[in-house]
Amino acid sequence: MPSDEDTLNEVRSRLAGETSVCVLTGAGISADSGVPTFRGPDGLWRNFRAEDLATPEAFSKNPRLVWEWYDWRRGIISEKSPNAAHAALVTLEDRLAEFTLITQNVDGLHSLAGSRRLIEMHGNIWKVRCTRCGEIKTNREVPLKLLPHCTDCGNLLRPHIVWFGEAIDPADIEACLGALQRCTLLLVIGTSGVVQPAASFADIARSAGAFTVEINPDPTGRTGAFDAVLRGRSAEVVPKLL
Ligand code: OAD
Repeated sequence: MPSDEDTLNEVRSRLAGETSVCVLTGAGISADSGVPTFRGPDGLWRNFRAEDLATPEAFSKNPRLVWEWYDWRRGIISEKSPNAAHAALVTLEDRLAEFTLITQNVDGLHSLAGSRRLIEMHGNIWKVRCTRCGEIKTNREVPLKLLPHCTDCGNLLRPHIVWFGEAIDPADIEACLGALQRCTLLLVIGTSGVVQPAASFADIARSAGAFTVEINPDPTGRTGAFDAVLRGRSAEVVPKLL
């Protein structure tokens, strides 16, 4: 078993020599900014039921309840800033000819940090979408005036988020698969690896020949499938890779 220091050095030297890197992030990368994760002892899904708040059925049944929950989360996120891990990924992107950052996070902290080659595969909490005309707009009001309506057609707006039971934008999936198949190194940071399709991304990249690295303070159900594992908080570990 290599020591943590050996693994860190190996990943650092691989990264320095790579030209094509892909990164997948989950809620854990924003934990060091103070944004709650979904699972784990203080996770949102400990106190709330996803089926009441993050499904199209829940929204049809009680749009006010769903909006109140998203408005509460927008309030929390609006007070948070990107951390050292978000910043380190911007530095990495600047160095590399080919780089794709895929995030499951909807908090917008990667783009606030300055990431540009970014796929927000689960949407963005700062965007709203009309339930009728489909128009997507940025909305940064905190708190929101509930219930929000479309300024174009007057119909109800919903969060521009991919809920359970909904399909991810096919263009995003295609872009993710392309990046995973092209990359020679994949970093998977702060995700429990239980939500598909992101949970399969490391296997896809590894089958295509990439060296895969998990960065997480705790083991996940996927840990055994990575080439290297770095245990620790992302705000501490990710800057050390540069
Ligand atoms: P989870 O909450 O399932 O997992 C968070 C992961 O972050 C866990 O594995 C933690 O061990 C790890 N973690 C905690 N603190 C960390 C830190 N400081 N640094 C690094 N890692 C840390 O979040 P996701 O895997 O992102 O979907 O969840 C996937 C999806 O499930 C989310 O996108 C969301 C949720 O339901 C939607 O909202 C559509």
